[in-house]
Amino acid sequence: MQIPFLFPAAGRLVPAIPSSGALRRIASFALLAAALSATAFAQSAPAPASTPTVTPPPPPALAHFRVLWMHKPSQEAMVSWTTPVEGSSHVVYLDTESRKGKLADYKQKVTALPPRKYTMLPADAGTPEGWAQNALLQNLQPATTYYFVIQSDRAVSREFHFVTAPADDRPIKVIYGGDSRRGPPLPQPHLDRRSVNRLIAELVEEQPDILAFAHGGDYCSRAEWRFLTDWLSDHELTITKDSRILPIVPTRGNHESAGGFDEMFYWPGRETPYYYATELSGRVTLITLNSNISIAGDQRDWLEAELIRQRQAPNKWIALQYHRPSYASVKAYQNAAQQRQHWVPLFEQHKVDLVCEADDHMLKRSAPIYQDRHDPVRGITYIGDGGLGVPQRIPDLTRWYLKSPGFATPAHHVHLIEFGRDEIHVTAIGLERQLLDQFAVKSKLGTSPASE
Ligand SMILES: [Fe+2]
Ligand SMILES: [Fe+2]
Repeated sequence: MQIPFLFPAAGRLVPAIPSSGALRRIASFALLAAALSATAFAQSAPAPASTPTVTPPPPPALAHFRVLWMHKPSQEAMVSWTTPVEGSSHVVYLDTESRKGKLADYKQKVTALPPRKYTMLPADAGTPEGWAQNALLQNLQPATTYYFVIQSDRAVSREFHFVTAPADDRPIKVIYGGDSRRGPPLPQPHLDRRSVNRLIAELVEEQPDILAFAHGGDYCSRAEWRFLTDWLSDHELTITKDSRILPIVPTRGNHESAGGFDEMFYWPGRETPYYYATELSGRVTLITLNSNISIAGDQRDWLEAELIRQRQAPNKWIALQYHRPSYASVKAYQNAAQQRQHWVPLFEQHKVDLVCEADDHMLKRSAPIYQDRHDPVRGITYIGDGGLGVPQRIPDLTRWYLKSPGFATPAHHVHLIEFGRDEIHVTAIGLERQLLDQFAVKSKLGTSPASE
């Protein structure tokens, strides 16, 4: 079904995008487009001569507002959104002060990259098509709130804002979680995923020093448009009541084999297939790996070089995220033999501080692991294993690393990771705001080297 892109007629007031509350009620981009279509049909019907044509114009067809971080989030960010047609002019108005949506007052105007149409497969038939719009913001100031408004032709969003990463060593917080796929089949709403997203928004409202949302992969059932549009609509629920957007740092999961993942998290000139280092502050680096391509070879070599580079700076916190767990809570231990052979020795040699995993659909904390043994001094703690709304599984509690202080239990959750001055504090928070786990990690930099 082709959905017309409806611009308000020239000379009319451009209506604001629906309020935060209204956006939270939008079930999906498909519904938004369907509503637009219905309005278009109603407007096309001939009105009786005596009836004044006072039907207000439809809301602008902008959706899926989000911010993407990859490499240097103290300096750059990608603002992305979706339009139902290609359109001709797409810009982001940007300022370090709120201009309350008055476009002429914003100090910067950033032109978006060329629109990219989301791939439509035969199975996507019936889903309104979408165009990915991406505006790369560069030369940003660190630890600064940026207010922005999106304009696609005559459609204008409300004002959003996000905060860039600091370049200094101040403490920061990050939300980590994985596995937000269905669950109930389309078109049923994914209620658990929505609940987790609302929890994320509430946590950011309460703790403004939360900087980013690291997603460990498996966003939706497949990286195909009918599922992506659904996930992207639900992702808007992470936007706070005052329109703050939490930038996402994405990991590729095994459900993201289709090309829609690259379309959803596009970055121009990306040098690797989604393994990269994100400098979340002057003291914190999050390394994202891709567990769905070759574990050894180029990726392993890149990881080693990056860990050496990161460890040249003193006192850095280094955390990792990737999808398939090296120390699984549910799936077969042998599945991750390659990761334990090629990645884990590098983690241990370079004294990685925390590893975030996903895929098994479980809340997990491993015992601290060093050379495949429990080591409270040199061991690395692995958390996971994915609970952003995906149905949970049953853990295999016979595995040694899941015994105290490790554990695993099915529970939807997010991990709140606080990178402090002297320790990393990790909490797992459930849908009812219950504290599911908490522990602290000290730096291992003063411990004996791995070769001893
Ligand atoms: Fe997975
Ligand atoms: Fe999964």
